[in-house]
Amino acid sequence: MEYIITTEQLTKKYKNFVSVNNVSIHIRKGSIYGFLGPNGAGKSTTMKMLLGLTAPTKGSFAIDGRHFPEDRLAILREIGSFIESPSFYVNLTGRENLDIIRRILGLPKDSVDDALRLVGLNEFGNRLAKKYSLGMKQRLGLAGALLGRPPILILDEPTNGLDPSGIHEIRNLVKSLPKLYDCTIMISSHMLSEIELLADDIGILNHGRLLFEGSLDELRDNAQKMGNANQMSDINIFNVANKIGFANLEDVFLTMVDQDNVAIKQRAVL
Ligand SMILES: Nc1ncnc2c1ncn2[C@@H]1O[C@H](COP(=O)(O)OP(=O)(O)O)[C@@H](O)[C@H]1O
Ligand SMILES: [Mg+2]
Repeated sequence: MEYIITTEQLTKKYKNFVSVNNVSIHIRKGSIYGFLGPNGAGKSTTMKMLLGLTAPTKGSFAIDGRHFPEDRLAILREIGSFIESPSFYVNLTGRENLDIIRRILGLPKDSVDDALRLVGLNEFGNRLAKKYSLGMKQRLGLAGALLGRPPILILDEPTNGLDPSGIHEIRNLVKSLPKLYDCTIMISSHMLSEIELLADDIGILNHGRLLFEGSLDELRDNAQKMGNANQMSDINIFNVANKIGFANLEDVFLTMVDQDNVAIKQRAVL
């Protein structure tokens, strides 16, 4: 298997609080990797470490054969990113905003129009950013990440704050990207339903720890097995989910997180 991003026991501590705890993830080249977890799970912190925005307390990672920290700058040149809600100069047009980023990155002039086309904003490039809808602003943020067509995209909750049609629009756009050019995408969300239709593989994070990594089918199988194993135990969360029949994968995800939370509480009592 050819992985383009691997982390090894990546850990981030803030004073006594462990935000990311020994996380080892594996992202296949050309895939869409859904990075899933409730708010506060440590998704943004993990992504910020991959982008060199915050230093790991422990552990290491490699991106496209380059190792952090030695190859930090080379790694950054490979990644386009969208972290939390991007901000823009609202009194400049979409095209002018992108041109500022383009110049900082030292990319050719035509990369702006290319990025606008990739996100379907080419007809709105000359409109002031303040006149963009929220969905258009998110698309402009994505266009910023796409400048120069980087081989790796790290997108932190790009559907945050959007209404269902906006979510649908961004989801379709992200899904289309690997078909438009050769790229690998890591995308985070706190809702499985938001990424189950587009991710090839998923990693589930809770309280900084990776609970699961694999395909959606593997997640289904895994949950079923855990449900069976738990039938005789006092922890009935999985039985409840079994009764529902896991019709909805979101239940599997939420149940896994609930069970992990119960286990964490039990450990704390012991
Ligand atoms: N700069 C920081 N200082 C202290 N704690 C932080 C800092 N950044 C994040 N955290 C904590 O780390 C945990 C994980 O945060 P984050 O990575 O933003 O989670 P997510 O993106 O999954 O919602 C949270 O409990 C958050 O409060
Ligand atoms: Mg976050």
